[in-house]
Amino acid sequence: MEVKTVKPSARLQKLFDNLLAQLRQFIRDNQINHDEYRSAVAFLLETAASGELTLLSDVLLEATVDQVDSMGRVGTATSVEGPFYLPDSPMLTSPAVLPHRANEPGEKLFLSGTVKAPDGTPLAGAIIDIWQADAEGNYSHFNVPAADAPFNLRARVSADRSGAYEIQTWLPAAYQIPKDGPTGAILKATGRHPWRPAHVHFRISHPGFSTLTTQLFVAGDPWIDSDVVGAVKQPLIVNFERHTDPAEIKARGLDQPFRTARYDFILPTAEARKAA
Ligand SMILES: [Fe+2]
Repeated sequence: MEVKTVKPSARLQKLFDNLLAQLRQFIRDNQINHDEYRSAVAFLLETAASGELTLLSDVLLEATVDQVDSMGRVGTATSVEGPFYLPDSPMLTSPAVLPHRANEPGEKLFLSGTVKAPDGTPLAGAIIDIWQADAEGNYSHFNVPAADAPFNLRARVSADRSGAYEIQTWLPAAYQIPKDGPTGAILKATGRHPWRPAHVHFRISHPGFSTLTTQLFVAGDPWIDSDVVGAVKQPLIVNFERHTDPAEIKARGLDQPFRTARYDFILPTAEARKAA
């Protein structure tokens, strides 16, 4: 049998030795018995069989990998990609309205800002790959059937010549990670909730610069301090201002309150990323 994921190297040997030493110490420290050991192995088997191994790993560990991997990086703080990204979403040009259903629920949200280099130079034509949950906490192609709404609330938007972007979308809701399988069971059994605070995902790229994968979080969300994934970073918490003034609503051509949020993204140069 060919094992594609194992390539011998000094780094792998060092990591494996250390992991094994730490796990063995964990067994000693906690006086793990045979029943507990077999139960842990059975849990991993059950998780793999249910297709949740990636979910479990991402929920428990990916944010820590992001923290380590982004140390020394300049520019906007990174955050995890998560499991709901889809490549090849529709290409749009700023100002853009994200693909949506005729009856898209929730409040309209107007996102704007500029994509810049660390020295402040605007990055003309930067590509803003954006994806998010809808106002009911559902992602298209995952919880919303693709046939009903292809690439709903997903697009790649190119910034204008001054690096500026304007994207009209809908305010996302907080959501629970899938909780009916082993991942949900272990969270519940250990007193953890399954909620992620409301957020919008971004992957922003420009030739010569290091791609930025991040999320913007809605300030005031009840789960902002206890994200199950642990992906919230203070600089990424943004005021998604709610506008209720009838004159402002009318000026936008709307008939109900709406939200606005502004954020400037800063991409490190590819060289800066390499040096970090
Ligand atoms: Fe998400």
